[in-house]
Amino acid sequence: ERIPEVEELLEKMTLEEKIGQLNLLTPGGGVATGAVVSEDVETKIKAGNVGGVFGVSSPEKVRQAQEIAVKNSRLGIPLLIGSDIIHGYKTTYPIPLGLSSSWDLELIKEGAQMAAKEATADGINWNFSPMVDIARDPRWGRIAEGAGEDPYLGSQIAKAMVEGYQGEDLTQPSTMMATVKHMALYGAPEAGRDYNTVDMSRLKMFNEYLPPYKAAVDAGVGSVMTSFNDIDGIPASGNKWLLTDLLRERWGFGGFVVSDYTSVNEMIAHGMGDLQDVSAMAINAGLDMDMVGEGFLTTLKKSVEEGKVSEEQITKAARRILEAKHKLGLLNDPYLYSDESRPEKDILTDENRSLARKAATRSFVLLKKHENTLPLAKDANIALIGPLANNKNNMLGTWAPTGNTELSIPVLEGLENVAPDAEVTYAKGANIADDSTFAKKVNVFGKRIEIDERTPEAMLKEAVEVANNSDVVVAVVGEASEMSGEAASRTDITIPDSQKKLINKLVATGKPVVLVLMSGRPLDISEEMALPVSILQAWHPGVEAGNAVADVLFGDYNPSGKLTNSWPRSVGQVPIHYRMKTTGRPGPESGEFQKFKTNYLDSPNSPLLPFGFGLSYTTFEYSDIKASADSLNADGSIQLSARVTNTGNYDGEEIVQLYTHDLVRSVTPPGKELKGFQKIFLKKGESKTVSFTITPEDLKFYNSQIEYVFEPGEFEFFIAGSSDGRFENSFELKE
Ligand code: IFM
Repeated sequence: ERIPEVEELLEKMTLEEKIGQLNLLTPGGGVATGAVVSEDVETKIKAGNVGGVFGVSSPEKVRQAQEIAVKNSRLGIPLLIGSDIIHGYKTTYPIPLGLSSSWDLELIKEGAQMAAKEATADGINWNFSPMVDIARDPRWGRIAEGAGEDPYLGSQIAKAMVEGYQGEDLTQPSTMMATVKHMALYGAPEAGRDYNTVDMSRLKMFNEYLPPYKAAVDAGVGSVMTSFNDIDGIPASGNKWLLTDLLRERWGFGGFVVSDYTSVNEMIAHGMGDLQDVSAMAINAGLDMDMVGEGFLTTLKKSVEEGKVSEEQITKAARRILEAKHKLGLLNDPYLYSDESRPEKDILTDENRSLARKAATRSFVLLKKHENTLPLAKDANIALIGPLANNKNNMLGTWAPTGNTELSIPVLEGLENVAPDAEVTYAKGANIADDSTFAKKVNVFGKRIEIDERTPEAMLKEAVEVANNSDVVVAVVGEASEMSGEAASRTDITIPDSQKKLINKLVATGKPVVLVLMSGRPLDISEEMALPVSILQAWHPGVEAGNAVADVLFGDYNPSGKLTNSWPRSVGQVPIHYRMKTTGRPGPESGEFQKFKTNYLDSPNSPLLPFGFGLSYTTFEYSDIKASADSLNADGSIQLSARVTNTGNYDGEEIVQLYTHDLVRSVTPPGKELKGFQKIFLKKGESKTVSFTITPEDLKFYNSQIEYVFEPGEFEFFIAGSSDGRFENSFELKE
């Protein structure tokens, strides 16, 4: 449906002004993630050559930018003001991979709402989030920004985030337009190397990788960002099948598509021609807005004159940008997001900080319990050791350019806040990494890895002395924030050597040891899992890091997070995920090697820690797993249920998961598929029956014709606290 205001504007616009709307620039001051930074932005805005900017914030600056557009350009069209708000604006909450481990859709939505309220208070109306790329290769640094490996969970989270950012009404000044990214398949680069080639069958795309983008589109996301990679040999930003046939025609997407940073220009290096060629290819494919590269601005007019691009194509793209401005209320009031009184009221409030703290506690995953070390007593004598134990610089995690590291609570401070009667002695013990060349690569956005002036031996000695004088050792170890994220792929995903030495020395003291592990990716922790230690995975927890870690260590919150990626035994197993197919020669269930079966000579197939796994201070038992009937009809439903009992000594939350296996299908099915989950709270000793309603719609998949269908037949299922369960029950789906 056409919007009269937009159509009136289009009537008045010259070809150049329409092309101007398709140009997105960054005036600097933000984080440049490519080689190019925009120049002469003000002059270009005045000339009507800019549709939006990013990297500009504060109501005053945004008002100035809008004034330049509104008062000085011929048609006075306001700007989109974009930003990367990936996990909180100023109140940074856990990295998305961490928050996904909460499996708490309401909390995830609340986080997005809070981010929208803070960002819009600071003038921003358009967010480059959610990032929903399915990732199954922890070498890839941007695994930190997504929701893990599973299309079902990933889709639920994508929807929650879009709803959180956009709210019910985008013209409300506390909501902002969301962008689902990176369309598509960006999380599957060969060898886990960022920006690398992606090559995938259509079947795998539709069944495994595309669902979260579609879920965001179905939830009404306002814009879509293309990815850097190619798909079927055509870069995403110039891929007509992707941007028009699939996104618009099949999925019915009505918003606009923006490129990633200079990804149109990068099609030259991909081998698609010169700047004019690739810009024409991109607009003809269905890309509407060109981020930073100015290929549209500098070549599209010529392409129209030469008949390579139609003016109609440009009008269509300009219409979509103007419609987005209309949806945001900007055409009515360009200063809707320039209320100088808001930052004080809406940003970094106590309420927001307490949500960030709650989110962090819910994101932690207890990976290993050794004896009864955890929770800690609030009057314990604690040796707090490790390069991440008193480190403000690494608490926020990757892609938190709007956060302020100085405001983050380090673990040392958190322990003191939550347990003032505890005796806490701190020693750094080791550098995050000792290699200064490596440190330099990581330190692009600030001093994430600081190499101490003392020798490693002197640091270790001090740490051991402190440990020897304590009741219990808490070692905060892992990755610096920028060891994951964009352009931060690793071939070795273990804890750096400097810290491994420290861990081993601490264990050798014989004191009980708790490892608090921080990272932006699944790590290979096979060695650490074999040690007599407890392990709490804390990701990069955000601005309230230390308080949240302390809440969990002292038992004020009993950890309930579950992994959203399978953690490998070694990098040799990646890519790895729980939905792997059985193959025609299934691997032996025992894990014992068998010749001529799908397995390894030197490792079991199973991951070190499966998808969906996470412990609690208490224990949960599952019983009475059953279906309400033997079968369901094509128009019917069935209840699958389990009784869950808290059999341990603490109250706690459990994420109850339902997995099915389609035994016979026209295309080879995954070995198991997550079909539902519920987070429940059980007091110690308490039991609850958890029930899932399944309809044929839930059992659909894409067949070899890429039709979304269900097929009758038998389905096995189990309900458990991780993907590592056994199928013991089944039901039949009838014609
Ligand atoms: O939104 C990001 C994207 O995820 C990576 N390249 C830069 C964009 C804008 O900052």
